Amino acid sequence: MDAQTFLKKLDSIPDIPTLPAIVVKVNKMLQDDDTSIKNLSKVIEKDQAMVTKILRLVNSTFYGFRSRITNISHAVIILGFNTIRNAVVSVSIIKTFSGKKTFEGFEIKDFWRHSVAVAVTSRYLAEQARLCSPDDCFVSGLLHDIGKVVLSQHFTELFGLVWKSVKEDGLSFYEAEQKLVPVNHAQIGGYLAKKWQFPASLIDSTTYHHAVSKSVSNLNQLLIVHTANSMVSSYQSDSDMRPDFSSIDPEAKRLMAGQLGTFSEWFPNVATKIESACEFFLKEE
Ligand SMILES: [Fe+2]
Ligand SMILES: [Fe+2]
Repeated sequence: MDAQTFLKKLDSIPDIPTLPAIVVKVNKMLQDDDTSIKNLSKVIEKDQAMVTKILRLVNSTFYGFRSRITNISHAVIILGFNTIRNAVVSVSIIKTFSGKKTFEGFEIKDFWRHSVAVAVTSRYLAEQARLCSPDDCFVSGLLHDIGKVVLSQHFTELFGLVWKSVKEDGLSFYEAEQKLVPVNHAQIGGYLAKKWQFPASLIDSTTYHHAVSKSVSNLNQLLIVHTANSMVSSYQSDSDMRPDFSSIDPEAKRLMAGQLGTFSEWFPNVATKIESACEFFLKEE
């Protein structure tokens, strides 16, 4: 099967996840300059489960506000449109992809733990480097590997081959895919993000998070997610906290030199944030 055939097949899968209506609506509203806090709050308030989640999120230690936020309008005023939109997107995506059965041995919880870790680390790097929106980087980090879930749910046979090669040949998931699958999880994720009409920066940071391309809509966002993914992956596989940054793109290394050099000083704090984000996002209702 070549790449084109593969993507055509992906297109024809009837139960490929679609975005929940609330995400589509909120995304659309934020592209419209006339959207008011009142209108946005009204749309979110139609989904009570979402309201509960958002209020819990904004009141959690993750954002660290002193006063208690008790309604959506207040949350929008304090956090801003973009942060609220990203919170809605994050909560919805995790929910959409967590229910279905995946390949045996591929733990969806572990998958999300990795994704949340990359999201929180991307957010931190964006805050430090002041190069792009921390919230956009959070969502990019959360979504970067989503293609793996699609592969595991809809292309079980191919996923099985890759999984076996990871376990038996000691390859990374991406390396095994290069050998065995016509398109990799990054391309599948990017394809899905495009289908969902996400911003170009998010499509690109998903598509190129392993093979950095310089001609993307927001290079800084891509380099941040790429770096965070390498940091988290190597941290998760090295218990001594001596991460290996050799796979990081040279341009990203230049951009993040300060953060790479001081990794062992700041990462433990970020790891605490990752734990609290996992507790929030991955807690079953
Ligand atoms: Fe990946
Ligand atoms: Fe990853």
